[in-house]
Amino acid sequence: EKGGFDHFMLKEIFEQPQTIFDSLRGRLDPVQQSITLSGVDKIADKLLAANRIIIVACGTSWHAGLLAEYVLEELCRINVEVEYASEFRYRNPIITDKDVIIAVSQSGETADTLVAIENAKKQGATIFGLVNVVGSSIARMSDAGAYTHAGPEIGVASTKAFTAQLAVLYLLALKVAKLKGTIDTTLYHRLMTDLAKVPEYVQEILDEQDAIIKEVAAKYSDARDFLFLGRGYNFPIALEGALKLKEISYIHAEGYPAAEMKHGPIALVDDQLPVVFVATKDSYHEKIVSNIQEIKARKGKVIAVVSQGDNVAAGLADDVMVVPLVHEVIAPILSVIPLQLLSYYIGVNRGLDVDKPRNLAKSVTVE
Ligand code: F6R
Repeated sequence: EKGGFDHFMLKEIFEQPQTIFDSLRGRLDPVQQSITLSGVDKIADKLLAANRIIIVACGTSWHAGLLAEYVLEELCRINVEVEYASEFRYRNPIITDKDVIIAVSQSGETADTLVAIENAKKQGATIFGLVNVVGSSIARMSDAGAYTHAGPEIGVASTKAFTAQLAVLYLLALKVAKLKGTIDTTLYHRLMTDLAKVPEYVQEILDEQDAIIKEVAAKYSDARDFLFLGRGYNFPIALEGALKLKEISYIHAEGYPAAEMKHGPIALVDDQLPVVFVATKDSYHEKIVSNIQEIKARKGKVIAVVSQGDNVAAGLADDVMVVPLVHEVIAPILSVIPLQLLSYYIGVNRGLDVDKPRNLAKSVTVE
């Protein structure tokens, strides 16, 4: 049942070329340059007239939502808020019929997310559900939606569901941007082309980096704390990397926007602290390179996720995990893969039950 893998988590990490492909299949057509998402068509008038989009989710799904905020604001020029469902539902938020809520949930059963959209719906908002489990409560509560086609996720820590969420959120952003006319043709084509190739790129990372990451993990399995830093599109990936490591290895880890480190966390840096930089090439790459230099100057150990061919960031880091060079908007769906593997191998090295970490449940149906 684990298909020859030692754990469901590893099996699910390795399924991602397929699950991302499945989530794009029949929807993304890079030849015709078209995107089919019937859920978006269904509420297109609401989306185009929306004052804002509010993304509601928990945990890893919230991280997918945070990335979607960056992408939707950039490509669609719509105001986007990302809310922890548990906070949103209890704070009497201001919601009108001009709001579109996107609920992101693997299980479709997370209690806080479900009640959050139920409340928003009562106040007139339109609900779009991005859910993995077909027929789940959140799917049924939604006015429209799109399924992620990740298949059943058994590992408690979410991996393939997350990348499937990103794939569909990219499709949604591209489709809405096209409808609104906020994206130029060149960028639209470029992003579609890169997105269509993501399954191949993920396969390349798995083929070429798995053994390397296993060795990196062996060096850091006894660490007490970890810091994960990223900027822009890679900031949500830094948060996700830290969450994954906490869950699987029980090592304390924090994710931060790279530039925020100077405002506090830098006090933690010494020669014992591994700092993971999600440092793929983007428009502010030199900024993260200088953040890496700041950590090196304080003798921190730097593990960097870098784009292929980036000798600058790679040259500064103690350990390097390489991903293919793609457009900065698409890069995060690749940069998370090495972090999933890193957490997995550190958890295994520590002798832990990576498929069922202590205290965690696959779906949180209680508040
Ligand atoms: C982390 C993880 C959790 C879930 C969260 C939301 O690896 O799995 O943080 O992402 O409980 O669950 P869903 O997406 O089912 O609403």
